[in-house]
Amino acid sequence: MTPKRRQVLLLWLLLCSGVVTEGLEPITTTIAVGMAATLTALLANYRNIYFQFYECCRPEWIAFNATGLKVDLDRKLYGQHIASRIILKAVNGFMNNGNPKKPLVLSLHGWTGTGKNFISKLIAENIYKEGMESGFVHFFTSTLHFPHSSQLVNYKSQLQQWIKGNVTNCERSMFIFDEMDKMHPGLIDCIKPYLDYYDKLDGVSYRKAIFIFLSNAGADSIAKTTLDFWKAGENRDDIELKDLETALSLSVFNNIQSGFYRTSLIDKNLVDFFVPLLPLEYKHVVQCAMTEMVARGLEPNWPVAEELAKDLLYFPKSEKIFAVTGCKTIESRLDYYI
Ligand SMILES: Nc1ncnc2c1ncn2[C@@H]1O[C@H](COP(=O)(O)OP(=O)(O)OP(=O)(O)O)[C@@H](O)[C@H]1O
Ligand SMILES: *[C@@H]1O[C@H](CO)[C@@H](O)[C@H](O)[C@H]1NC(C)=O
Ligand SMILES: *[C@@H]1O[C@H](CO)[C@@H](O)[C@H](O)[C@H]1NC(C)=O
Ligand SMILES: [Mg+2]
Repeated sequence: MTPKRRQVLLLWLLLCSGVVTEGLEPITTTIAVGMAATLTALLANYRNIYFQFYECCRPEWIAFNATGLKVDLDRKLYGQHIASRIILKAVNGFMNNGNPKKPLVLSLHGWTGTGKNFISKLIAENIYKEGMESGFVHFFTSTLHFPHSSQLVNYKSQLQQWIKGNVTNCERSMFIFDEMDKMHPGLIDCIKPYLDYYDKLDGVSYRKAIFIFLSNAGADSIAKTTLDFWKAGENRDDIELKDLETALSLSVFNNIQSGFYRTSLIDKNLVDFFVPLLPLEYKHVVQCAMTEMVARGLEPNWPVAEELAKDLLYFPKSEKIFAVTGCKTIESRLDYYI
């Protein structure tokens, strides 16, 4: 360890973990009462300054904002009434429970560009002051972080070490796994213990951690049910979770890998909430385009947003209701319209 690193570590130990102020207690009772008090005050001062600038696993940096999450889901997330409701209920319940029995495990499913990563970001932003940038939020993409199946043995031990190390550092850690349907069954298997009802594993409790899995598995059957509602002339907002659950549980995970995902996580009840995202329609894409203009500091322009939305591809071929790429390409496409 270099001297500089040792210094930083020492500083972290002193200020972040509270070792010193606790250690000072016996001294205060004996001799240097005044000195210790001054020292403690000084240290408290430093600690406060430290907390302000360096992220610690403390309430200064990790505090759930229930109102914030509700407002964000209501205002920023379009066309996802079911997901919005489940997420709010799940995260609220978990964060307000002082002694959860297991970590929170959410599995988000839906078509591309419907808001899976976006929802994880909203959750992170309303728990961690630093949002997705937080050192306590860990994001893994199977094709990026674990691309070669020949490396499986390495990936497994690495991933287990990461999860264990990070939760040891901070029990309120969040792990997001993108492209869960492309993840190797062996890797899914190796994270299973962390999701289960264990008091402690090797002295570490995982019960305050949050795991979010994102995948496209089930997108087809969600789209089919949404289309059936549309064809029957029913309102999209009247679709309920149970309408999708049946279709999903029958047809979702047809390929081998996501089949494993289902049998190992969902059937074992390790996933607490199964969150379906509906495919987005023309009107939602227009909303996304309007939002993107505001985000760029432009005057929101409805005709431009409509023009952009009209140029996108929609499916199924005959009805053309759902945007093939959802809201995903809006950001880059907007350049051609303004
Ligand atoms: N339902 C939505 N409401 C508002 N904005 C959305 C919604 N869905 C997507 N967006 C916008 O589109 C961008 C891309 O969406 P996101 O990355 O969440 O898609 P995804 O569901 O993860 O897709 P993929 O399956 O391709 O990874 C988001 O950053 C967000 O700005
Ligand atoms: C929580 O979110 C609301 C709505 O976004 C915001 O007004 C409020 O300031 C936030 N509270 C905290 C403590 O950050
Ligand atoms: C925490 O996870 C990150 C990956 O997000 C990893 O690079 C880091 O080494 C982990 N920390 C520990 C202490 O294991
Ligand atoms: Mg995504």
